[in-house]
Amino acid sequence: MKTKIDIENLLQKMSIREKIGQMVQVNANMLGNSTGEATGPIEQLGISKDFTPYIGSTLNFHGAAEVVDIQSAHLSQDPNQIPLLFMMDVIHGYRTIYPIPLAMGGSFDPSLLMECSQMAAKEAAAAGVHCTFTPMVDLVRDARWGRVMETCGEDAYMNSVMGAVQVKAFQGEDLSDPEHLATCVKHFAAYGGAEAGRDYNTVEISERMLRECYLPAYRACLDAGCRMIMPSFNSLNGVPAVGNKWLMREILKKEWQFDGIVISDYNAINELIRHGVAENEKHAAGMAFSCGCDIDMMSPIYYRYLEDLIQNGVFTEKQLDDAVRKILQLKQDMGLFEDPYHGASPEKEAAVCLTDAHRAIARRAAEESAVLLKNNGVLPFSVGTKKIALIGPFAASKEIKGFWACDGKDEECVSVAEGIQRLLPDAEILIANGCSARWDDDDRSGFEHATDMARVADAVILCVGEPQNYSGEGNSRADLELPGVQMEMAKQVIAANPNTAVVTFSGRPLVLTELDAIAPAILHMWFPGTEGGNAAANLLFGVANPSAKVSMSFPKAVGQCPIYYNHPITGRPKKTPENVHQGYASNYIGCGNLPLYSFGHGLSYSKFVYESMTLDIDRIKEDQEIHVEITVMNDSDRAGKEVVQLYLHDLVASTVRPIQSLIGFKKLSFEPHERKTVSFTVREPQLRFYNADCEFVSEAGEFTLSTGYADHLLLTQHFFMEK
Ligand code: NOJ
Repeated sequence: MKTKIDIENLLQKMSIREKIGQMVQVNANMLGNSTGEATGPIEQLGISKDFTPYIGSTLNFHGAAEVVDIQSAHLSQDPNQIPLLFMMDVIHGYRTIYPIPLAMGGSFDPSLLMECSQMAAKEAAAAGVHCTFTPMVDLVRDARWGRVMETCGEDAYMNSVMGAVQVKAFQGEDLSDPEHLATCVKHFAAYGGAEAGRDYNTVEISERMLRECYLPAYRACLDAGCRMIMPSFNSLNGVPAVGNKWLMREILKKEWQFDGIVISDYNAINELIRHGVAENEKHAAGMAFSCGCDIDMMSPIYYRYLEDLIQNGVFTEKQLDDAVRKILQLKQDMGLFEDPYHGASPEKEAAVCLTDAHRAIARRAAEESAVLLKNNGVLPFSVGTKKIALIGPFAASKEIKGFWACDGKDEECVSVAEGIQRLLPDAEILIANGCSARWDDDDRSGFEHATDMARVADAVILCVGEPQNYSGEGNSRADLELPGVQMEMAKQVIAANPNTAVVTFSGRPLVLTELDAIAPAILHMWFPGTEGGNAAANLLFGVANPSAKVSMSFPKAVGQCPIYYNHPITGRPKKTPENVHQGYASNYIGCGNLPLYSFGHGLSYSKFVYESMTLDIDRIKEDQEIHVEITVMNDSDRAGKEVVQLYLHDLVASTVRPIQSLIGFKKLSFEPHERKTVSFTVREPQLRFYNADCEFVSEAGEFTLSTGYADHLLLTQHFFMEK
């Protein structure tokens, strides 16, 4: 039986200063340890040491031992015995790392992401994490931005489904359960719309576009019960998010009725001054507080000015209580007043993390999220292959877990070389780096050895890509080619042995146009995590069958960015017979308008035939629904999985509509030659969009439903909606 503390009573006992403490979050190295000493430079942040006992939450700590140490020291000092909340970016695993979210989006498998997130929750909770800054559901359309790796991709529907799944998986039914964490959806809003893909850059988006494409995923996460939200660093239509009244008050609080915790991004309140919208720290404090920001992450602003603003009547103590009550409530719901460690201990952490069972989940996730971009038939290689040349900077590299990998360690990752050695213990495996993956390294001295090896091998696996620290926060790129001299080496290796498959690694879609022209096969692993090398080996040798699809379009050239499949239709589309993307405006000379690989593209070793698509009715009224049935056949001798995708297009509407919009998907397993029929239901709300007055409406008229791939629709049916 849980004992509840009386939050109102506690609030009454607390001084204003103590209450403000709950609203301040600092790095863990600034807090006391069990000897009662502040271990770090809290004063450098501008916060006095005697305020430390009142602080409400912390981030950037490491493991259960440290958490227990800090929490026990804190409780011995806090006059009200209020436990700290420990928060961390658990983005794609805690210790066992699964593929980056952009890859997980391409798995098109919400139940798999659910399993991975539950595993991450279990590990993180055992290590002392109470809240994770997940899910990141920013819509992304520009691969130059380094943070595209953190999201499930360019589609609003996909991001909504996958975001909600993560919230449910991490939070479970009961937050006091020591296997669950609170979640924080981010970055509200439209951080992914950063101009030219430069991190932290300005975002200017019409309200209509914002509501239609960028906002739904944040909303879906809140509807799924997400307890916290983080405003983004960027300015949105002129006002930085944490100080943006329209966004935070009108949309988030009034329209969406969100009553959970708002936490600033790192130092973002302070940055209102840098943005030039706040005159000074006091002004910044007032802006953020009046926008409903409850926790100031890593800035001294609330500490320094909230008390003054309350004492001078700018804000009331009741407003302060409203913010603090939410924080105390979360601590209560997590059961922290009873068990301030939430079940974490160094022993439990060691027992729960990186188990064989968790590695197996991570391996399956890596197999299900790697995309076979091209295959002229060289793949899968035979498991009987005798001599294999493994070439390239990623051939034996363990640096494949990707950015934001918490306690994941490179040395715990399985490299491609190790994966192949495990799978084919009797094969002769020749390994050479050939060159580096760095943009500023033009050393070609390894080319000759690499090509000599390629020449004598039965099969060549060329592992290239961008280093894992080229994506993630602050890591934008102006060029999306394979960095350095890798492409030059690829040409020589492929010329030396045409029985070559290229395995690519990256945290974003790369420009692979030159490679695609010459490579017999390309398997894109993204950053696959701890079990990446085992997954790659299984896929290359046909023990596993690729089934993922592209979650974010791969441009043909960087100049095509931003590029995405659901582009609004234009009045002068470039028309070519194969151009289903009629919406793209005037052609780029020499490159065309289409991406190299569009959203939804991805090959398999099986051959799927889309046999039929039927609708039970072709005319609906607002309260009716259409049942769609799609029959797909595996016309091959190999078992495999196919993602059946359903796209909608509104032929005539009062505002321009996208070329296609994904409104449903299902991933199905097929035995050899098996036929399956999958059904979808389409209802009127799925036909709604924001009209020129920003009203969310559907309009009578003709629509199409199509299946296949965004760049290659296979079957289409028409229907009408009547009002
Ligand atoms: C800054 C990042 O923008 C955000 O995503 C992250 O949650 C915080 N730092 C905390 O690490």
